[in-house]
Amino acid sequence: MDDSRETKPVLGVRRLKEAMDKPSSLRIITTANQKGGVGKTTTTVNIAAALSMGGLQVVVIDLDPQGNASTAFGVEHMENPGIYEVLMGETTMAACAQKVKGFPSLECISSNTSLAQAEIELVPMVAREMRLKEAIEELVATRIQIGEPLDYIFIDCPPSLGLLTINALTAAKELLIPIQCEYYALEGLSQLLKTFELVKKRLNPQLKLTTFILTMFDSRTRLANDVADEIRKHYPKELIDIPIPRAVRVSEAPGFNQTVMTYDASSPGAVAYMAVARELAARAKSFDSNVVSIHYKREGEIA
Ligand SMILES: Nc1ncnc2c1ncn2[C@@H]1O[C@H](COP(=O)(O)OP(=O)(O)OP(=O)(O)O)[C@@H](O)[C@H]1O
Ligand SMILES: [Mg+2]
Repeated sequence: MDDSRETKPVLGVRRLKEAMDKPSSLRIITTANQKGGVGKTTTTVNIAAALSMGGLQVVVIDLDPQGNASTAFGVEHMENPGIYEVLMGETTMAACAQKVKGFPSLECISSNTSLAQAEIELVPMVAREMRLKEAIEELVATRIQIGEPLDYIFIDCPPSLGLLTINALTAAKELLIPIQCEYYALEGLSQLLKTFELVKKRLNPQLKLTTFILTMFDSRTRLANDVADEIRKHYPKELIDIPIPRAVRVSEAPGFNQTVMTYDASSPGAVAYMAVARELAARAKSFDSNVVSIHYKREGEIA
């Protein structure tokens, strides 16, 4: 691979030749795993970007004080109001959603370190677990009113099971868990699943664990294959069995304030995320009947 290629600014808009399946109703997906660095943000931003290229209306909520999703999308996130101000009731999502360059219908609600205070400031608030849900409902209603209904909302969680993640699980319809195919991959999974069950029981009965994604997969290692087999065995329906390879372009892209979809759309990581996104979209129709179809395209995706 030629690593000396210069990265150009994002110009124009990426669209796929073949549109992706539109869900019959809005999907709200929380990406969570309290283990740090497992690929939550990378998975969220690249799948969201791919779905948008497939013609779907997508919003990503950066719910992590690290602001990594905001960085990857290249949106302003230091001075401007973002998700912290939304949670504090100072602004609305509709007012602070920012368009992401290079995509037809992708927006981000940004975040920065001020969001860390929210974990504390939310504690004494009434219905503190519902703040995000209420803000999302308002955004959804606004978009329906103006005739631009949303297809997907993704919520990128911080690496903890604190009040921010609880808000995300309360607001979502689906939980997506990225699993890094490395040492200790499954450590902490039972704690995450306990939190999921608790939120489902007490706060959000509609929440479903719908999706597992294998990240940073190195097929040459036995360990990666063992982790994949374990998830395959326990979650055969939920696993999107298209492992995302560990790939240099994927890790470089955020350094250029881009997703890998604009940074290097033909690189192996981008191709894998595109295939995962197409499968995620295809499952929207079939999830209730538990029918799973694989739409795995490698070439000719980009119009
Ligand atoms: N497929 C991949 N190939 C190579 N590097 C990757 C891949 N996926 C993620 N990375 C890199 O691994 C690191 C962790 O990824 P990411 O930030 O997505 O994880 P995270 O779970 O969101 O982390 P945090 O818990 O801090 O929010 C990043 O530096 C990212 O660029
Ligand atoms: Mg992250």
